[in-house]
Amino acid sequence: MRIDIISAVPDLLQSPLNHSIVKRAQDKQIVEIVLHNLHEYGLGQYHQIDDAPFGGGAGMVMMIEPIAACIRKLQAERVYDEIIYTTPDGKTFNQQTANALSLKKNIIILCGHYKGIDERIRQLFITQEISIGDYVLSGGELAAAVMTDAIVRLLPQVLSDETSALSDSFQDNLLAPPVFTRPAEYEGLAVPTILLSGNHAKIAEWRDEQSITRTQERRPDLLEGLL
Ligand code: 6GU
Repeated sequence: MRIDIISAVPDLLQSPLNHSIVKRAQDKQIVEIVLHNLHEYGLGQYHQIDDAPFGGGAGMVMMIEPIAACIRKLQAERVYDEIIYTTPDGKTFNQQTANALSLKKNIIILCGHYKGIDERIRQLFITQEISIGDYVLSGGELAAAVMTDAIVRLLPQVLSDETSALSDSFQDNLLAPPVFTRPAEYEGLAVPTILLSGNHAKIAEWRDEQSITRTQERRPDLLEGLL
């Protein structure tokens, strides 16, 4: 898979994409993630990328030409399955969205910034508009990092234990069960004895029960239409 991320502040994406599982996936060449600095496509001597809104009002609006130039350059090199714009007015990202995007070959993520982008960019290029939740971030970079992480960890061969992405919270609309490691007792708090029993069938049963109880207690909305 290849993910191209277009941003006015690509540095914001460096650390999250260059550590841990996402870094390992790139090292193993399972995913290629390419950051594009929008300023390199800016207009004129000052590489301008935004301008005042027509009709007045506060804030600057990202201009069409730099974004169009960057997207068109990429499109000349390969075919893109999706061109995603990160924006608080998009459709809320969830595990299903991550699953679907992890099956694509080439995607572009355009990070929103400032007061928004010229509406015509959306009309001309964008195939999906995605928000990561009902709150406002200063820009789309953190949202792009969140989405990229959620997508990349699903790619085949990224996680060492092949089953572990499938047992994640949300993958089956259930939250994950609690986990424990040594010591078996800490300040009077003991690990559930079943986990020390070596009975793997019983342990699996206990984990399933815990998943369901947790989901009922914390996220009953996930169970609607499931049990
Ligand atoms: Cl994708 N962008 C911004 N700026 N704020 C957000 C968001 C995206 N998702 C939730 N809040």
